Amino acid sequence: MPSPAVVLSTGPSGRICNPAAWAALTAGELPIDAVQAGLMAAESDPECIDIGYGGRPDNEGWLSLDAAIMDGARHRAGSVAGLKGCKNPIAVARKVLETTPHVLLVGEGARKFATAHGFPDEGPLLTDTARAAYQKFLAGEARPTFTGHSHDTVGCCAVDAHGDLAVGCSTSGLDFKLPGRVGDSPIIGSGLYVDNAVGAATCMGMGEQMMQVCLAYRIVASMERGLSPQEACEEAVRALLRRRAGVSGIHCTVVALAKDGTSGGASSYPEDVYYRSSSADDGTVCVRALQVKVGDVA
Ligand code: GLY
Repeated sequence: MPSPAVVLSTGPSGRICNPAAWAALTAGELPIDAVQAGLMAAESDPECIDIGYGGRPDNEGWLSLDAAIMDGARHRAGSVAGLKGCKNPIAVARKVLETTPHVLLVGEGARKFATAHGFPDEGPLLTDTARAAYQKFLAGEARPTFTGHSHDTVGCCAVDAHGDLAVGCSTSGLDFKLPGRVGDSPIIGSGLYVDNAVGAATCMGMGEQMMQVCLAYRIVASMERGLSPQEACEEAVRALLRRRAGVSGIHCTVVALAKDGTSGGASSYPEDVYYRSSSADDGTVCVRALQVKVGDVA
């Protein structure tokens, strides 16, 4: 039975990612190409402060970017972590998927691979806004925060009319992070996961917490057991809060998309939204992710 085509994106920068991915999907591109197109649009936009060119630097003043992409139809993934000198890490992650037998390239190796595939080294790449934020960090007026809403990520899931799925995730990570710090976004099963027979999921928030419970894999596995995307998202946030009970102020927002085009989203925070595009939505809509409260975890 044909599925309705749907695209979901997390985070404030999902407002840029989702319409670009939806335009590509409705133009007949594959879900993986649509996800890449959406994430590249957000990565290239200097106003998107959580991803790509507009992102915040590490504590040495360098943009160091993480991204991953996974194709449901082939069950193949590619990712990069700690990539410097490049605005579009999702395009490099896609090259890893398409041209190597590997899944994840990091740091200097990722940089060399990017150069070899035509992505020139563009240096620290800070926008004026990011440079001003870094000056505040150097002056002691800003610091990396491990609890609360400290940074966002753009995760994007797409399903086409054939029921084929893809997912991608891109982030500049924790603001002013320790050089070498990597969060959940480029880790398959943590920041993103897709099973073409079931659905896709992706996460936004504090990677240190989410990557210790393989959150995106958990959501897809719950959907495989019969939970709806909404139920699976709520169960995953509840499970995270239960397992990290000693940690206060965990920020975690998840979205999921099933093969049949149904979708859902949940958050540990009250205000987080995600973006959804489908023909039923008549374009792109902003949806509040249902908050899972600490009291819900018992
Ligand atoms: N969720 C992105 C990160 O923690 O780096």
